[in-house]
Amino acid sequence: VALLGGGVIGAGWAARFVLNGCDVRLYDPAPEARDRVAQVAADARAAYERLTLAPFPQEGELRIVDSIDEAVAGVELVQESAPERVERKRMLLAEADRAAPPGALVCSSTSGLRPTELQAEMERPERFCVAHPFNPVYLLPLVELCGGERTATDTLSRAGALFRSVGMHPLVVRTEIDGFVADRLLEALWREALWLVNDGVATVDEIDDAIRYGAGLRWAFMGTFLTYRIAGGDEGMRHFLRQFGPALRWPWTHLTEVPELTHELVETIAAQSDAQAAGRSARELEQERDRVLVRLLQALRAEGAGAGATLAAWERELLDMTAVASAELDGGPIHGPETRIPADWVDYNGHVHESRYLELFADATDGLLRTVGVDSGYLADGGSYFTVETHLSHLRQLQAGDCVYVTTQVLDSDDKRLHVFHVLLRRGEPDPLATAEQMLLHVDTASGGAATSRDPVRGQVAELTRRHAALPRPESAGRSIGVR
Ligand SMILES: NC(=O)c1ccc[n+]([C@@H]2O[C@H](COP(=O)([O-])OP(=O)(O)OC[C@H]3O[C@@H](n4cnc5c(N)ncnc54)[C@H](O)[C@@H]3O)[C@@H](O)[C@H]2O)c1
Repeated sequence: VALLGGGVIGAGWAARFVLNGCDVRLYDPAPEARDRVAQVAADARAAYERLTLAPFPQEGELRIVDSIDEAVAGVELVQESAPERVERKRMLLAEADRAAPPGALVCSSTSGLRPTELQAEMERPERFCVAHPFNPVYLLPLVELCGGERTATDTLSRAGALFRSVGMHPLVVRTEIDGFVADRLLEALWREALWLVNDGVATVDEIDDAIRYGAGLRWAFMGTFLTYRIAGGDEGMRHFLRQFGPALRWPWTHLTEVPELTHELVETIAAQSDAQAAGRSARELEQERDRVLVRLLQALRAEGAGAGATLAAWERELLDMTAVASAELDGGPIHGPETRIPADWVDYNGHVHESRYLELFADATDGLLRTVGVDSGYLADGGSYFTVETHLSHLRQLQAGDCVYVTTQVLDSDDKRLHVFHVLLRRGEPDPLATAEQMLLHVDTASGGAATSRDPVRGQVAELTRRHAALPRPESAGRSIGVR
């Protein structure tokens, strides 16, 4: 990937691509870009460590280069994130287009400039589209794709697949308009907010309260239309529009007018905003934002809602990529990937909460299932295993920062049951931190009932069981809670 511009957005792109295993070359004439990119990549790394235990591929190489030619040589994607000035972007894109390989996609991060204008000077305008991300690019999945008059249709589908593969949710804006969809909505709200301050109705903090304690919580997974549908009761949207439609004609808003940004208004907003930040620096606010976004995405993932569904699909892809087929295993127990215990797993007592041990073992079970062929395809066909029993022994303390991994041995299996034994180990130490014995049952997810496994899973489970039968049986296998 070639990145042109390493400001707020370019640095965010660099982090997302590099952490997803893509090699990145970044061109930015400003000397401070190097430090910014390194800092944003470090923030992204910390966020991803908390976001998911799915193993990311080995990080791509990030190189800061001195020219556009050097940046675009041999790449699959050129992503331009230079300042929002149409002339400058047009020239930059034309130059990148001349030097980039003919098969590469060329995209712009513009928040609102029309793609037809941006592609005007390009020799191969058909491979250009807008790919408008949201800050922080490494955490927010939305990317709006919009083609210009000379964009080929397959450019949008290729770009969609590419951005999806790095955990994003591409939204194709089918009609070329200034501001695309998301910024139109955001600007409408922003105008209204500026009027409310201008007219002395509410302060900056009060306006933010009106969003974060109410509508903002719903927006994160339902958006506007689904929210209002519920407001219409059983009759849904029809009722809602009938009931509240007339109010839209009341002279509530100044929607198309913008308040004059007089010195006085700017000072009022800036002073209130300083008070709201209560001494927190931009850096502190960014870190707070990332921590909360991670929690929010995880909560949404648990429900498969909104951006959480995108996160789940991305994790699945990361896991499928790293799955080792059982045929490739030697005769030993399966070694899971190494995980670093994140600092926020430590509870108020200074201990890693016991539920985290189960989380580590559950991930090892998922790894085993992928090894025997339970991948996205098998799951989509309705086959899966559910855990029906777990016996966990806590032997030693886990600490934040520990590098740990789980080994997994199949003790026994038949067409429905899979009996496994996991051992949690710290890197370089022979003594287990914990063990878990689990019984899994094969199910048909459509009916929810137990069902016999199907090939290729059935054959792979049998083969793995046969190989693991040669391993010594763990001493504590079959143990119940021991009362001496
Ligand atoms: N900030 C946001 O929230 C946001 C969100 C989505 C999209 N965008 C869009 O992304 C683009 C970049 O915005 P930003 O916020 O990162 O701006 P920024 O000012 O933080 O960064 C722009 C960077 O481009 C560099 N630059 C200037 N001329 C260049 C050139 N000829 N070649 C390569 N780099 C050059 C600058 O040195 C700077 O580092 C804009 O088009 C903007 O509309 C911004």
